[in-house]
Amino acid sequence: MEESAQPGSGSSRPRVFIETYGCQMNIADSELVGAVLRRAGYAFAAAPEEADVILLNTCAIREHAEERVLQRLGHLARLRRARPELRLGLLGCMATHTRAALAEKAPWLDVIAGPDSYRRLPELLGRARSGGAARQAPQIDVRLDRLETYADIVPGHQGGVRAYVTAMRGCDRFCAFCVVPYVRGRERSVPPEAILDDIRGLAAGGAREIVLLGQTVNAYRFGDTDFGRLLHLVAAVEGIERIRFTSPHPSDMSESVIEAMATEPKVQPSLHLPVQSGSDRILAAMERGYTAGEYLRLVERIREAVPEIALSTDIIVGFHGEEEADFRATLELMAAVRYDSAFSFKYSLRENTRAFRFGDTVGEEEKGRRLSEIIALQERISAERNRALVGRQVAVLVEGPARRGEGMLAGKTPQFKTAVFPAAASIAPGDTVAARVESANAHTLHCALA
Ligand code: SAH
Ligand code: SF4
Ligand code: F3S
Repeated sequence: MEESAQPGSGSSRPRVFIETYGCQMNIADSELVGAVLRRAGYAFAAAPEEADVILLNTCAIREHAEERVLQRLGHLARLRRARPELRLGLLGCMATHTRAALAEKAPWLDVIAGPDSYRRLPELLGRARSGGAARQAPQIDVRLDRLETYADIVPGHQGGVRAYVTAMRGCDRFCAFCVVPYVRGRERSVPPEAILDDIRGLAAGGAREIVLLGQTVNAYRFGDTDFGRLLHLVAAVEGIERIRFTSPHPSDMSESVIEAMATEPKVQPSLHLPVQSGSDRILAAMERGYTAGEYLRLVERIREAVPEIALSTDIIVGFHGEEEADFRATLELMAAVRYDSAFSFKYSLRENTRAFRFGDTVGEEEKGRRLSEIIALQERISAERNRALVGRQVAVLVEGPARRGEGMLAGKTPQFKTAVFPAAASIAPGDTVAARVESANAHTLHCALA
């Protein structure tokens, strides 16, 4: 009776739709949630309108990320009112960050579950769904768990040439600006066997590139297996051609990791190495654990070991106390390193963090000016670096149709640059093709088949 009352549901399996916000950790977690719910008898809906349960896997890194989710929730609440048996759940980092406040801001939420509670989702949803059209009290489970790695659950990967595999959960670094250690809890590494099993399955399913994930992924350690060793183990999996990882912390960039990058051909020559600032004063206030000089020496060491490496970074402008001179130091560091690309952000004051009590000292407009300057400098450097590749041959791992350009295919070079080239009948996703760079801008290499 209850089941047949659900609009459009032909079978008795409830259908779930998961929307993912935030970083790759959340993409991987949504795949994990998918596996947990499939095991519990759920099917997947193709659109929110067709779902019995809608889950938002959320991000809390900056205020803007949370605002986006709250807006989306407002929209979904209307859907919920029109269909009283629909259930809405909020997962991920906002769940642990906002906790009780969330139940107030979004009283129509049926389930609120943090990153360590996904195993219990079937129970939480079961209770939330038990009344049919009659609404139950919200089910809240935001406990963090020092041990949970979900090692026994093989995620329901989306399929595709590139796959994300969680190597490590949580973060112990407590950078002064960052909510991650609070919302994801303590650092823990996934047992190597669980990682390798997952990757073997992925290879059998057609994945060619693996991205190992963790907020300080190079701090990975399980028994005797450190991150350098893990890279070698993953490289031994047949069928996997390319290996990357994100994000490494500069202070955990050990010789063992650099050695694996230098000697293991499957480990690709690209590295995202977040610097945040080029000013020693600001780096100290951020509690990043390195100076600009130490960071530059590390870059030198990595380039010595892997000469072809492409480097990218994250930069925050307008952290509390950032003066013009500090900001200039960041521009200088960028000009010295000449990154291939950079993600830059306006500082967003986050509750619970160590820097929260210092407040925001740089105005919104000034943050905007600094951000534009960072972006302009990086665009120039990225374009220069990419144009220097014109005439060169690159090995492109093909992913599928290009986002723009009819009849074009796109993929990545070993340096993780996007390459587009004309499609040919013989080329399929998962193939690696030789292409020659004909022209380039800051974001794309335009190629011809070589
Ligand atoms: N673990 C990674 C970073 C993960 S968060 C590392 O330590 O390198 C991704 C990026 O978001 C950070 O590198 C930082 O640049 C940015 N970020 C984090 N907290 C922020 C905040 N409060 N305001 C603005 N940007 C922030
Ligand atoms: Fe946040 Fe720092 Fe941990 Fe990165 S290393 S997730 S910036 S606390
Ligand atoms: Fe956001 Fe959580 Fe990732 S806060 S950046 S989704 S770890």
